[in-house]
Amino acid sequence: MNALPATVTRAAGGELIALDAVQKSYNVGKPSEAEVLHGLDLRIHAGEFVALMGPSGSGKSTLLNILGLLEPLTSGSYRLQGEAVQGLNDAALTLRRRHTLGFVFQFHHLLPAFSALENVTLPALMGEGHVSAAQRERARSLLDAVGLAQAMDKRPGELSGGMQQRVAIARALVMEPPLVLADEPTGNLDTASSAEVFALLRRIHAERGTSFIVVTHDPRLAARCDRLVELVDGRIASDAAIVPGVEPVPSALSPLRA
Ligand SMILES: Nc1ncnc2c1ncn2[C@@H]1O[C@H](COP(=O)(O)OP(=O)(O)OP(=O)(O)O)[C@@H](O)[C@H]1O
Ligand SMILES: [Mg+2]
Repeated sequence: MNALPATVTRAAGGELIALDAVQKSYNVGKPSEAEVLHGLDLRIHAGEFVALMGPSGSGKSTLLNILGLLEPLTSGSYRLQGEAVQGLNDAALTLRRRHTLGFVFQFHHLLPAFSALENVTLPALMGEGHVSAAQRERARSLLDAVGLAQAMDKRPGELSGGMQQRVAIARALVMEPPLVLADEPTGNLDTASSAEVFALLRRIHAERGTSFIVVTHDPRLAARCDRLVELVDGRIASDAAIVPGVEPVPSALSPLRA
């Protein structure tokens, strides 16, 4: 595996995400209206590697979708790199998603008819209508960096689950986003592949300074992040730096829960 391609140095420590009193309700105005996030305040700085944990239904994916500009918030404020997102129209949101954010999901959503390389260049193709030689080269070096130099021309169906997820990670990075949002990126993988994919995320963070917010149900993986934000019933129940070597116990599972 080669080192990841060199990229612009990112200023560490700047404020990437600022949420203030963010509320999210689904089905507003209908009998089924339900408030899912109840006034979240959260700051994420450039270069952080954050685990997001919490019981099923606590709102982790909803929060990630809001951060990823895939869902609007119902009230409160969200500033991404200092810019209030509520005022942005669809075209501006799309541009922000394309250039600021990379997404990795539990199910990789690779297109089965396309090769690994074509899947990685897809964000460029969709954004600009064509893939430049530089972008294609970048996609190649990313696939090389994630250990798939020999698999660039293979279709997803010919790759293992872990390999497919590594293709999805390369795809998330091809536009060089400062922030990657990963929703249970290893949730569909066996233990060995999970550890491998997680190590890859950490390596990208170390080499490129990319910020990560990773939803996981696995305390062993959360222990390898730098900070753990825990969501319980749509509220931030805890938010703390992770002590190396100590597996975090989510407070929702802890018998000593206050
Ligand atoms: N599109 C939607 N419409 C209505 N309700 C929704 C929608 N998406 C999520 N919900 C509800 O919001 C709550 C939070 O869901 P969310 O998917 O964010 O939880 P989660 O923490 O990601 O759970 P999991 O660990 O199971 O993935 C749940 O009660 C869910 O039913
Ligand atoms: Mg979820």
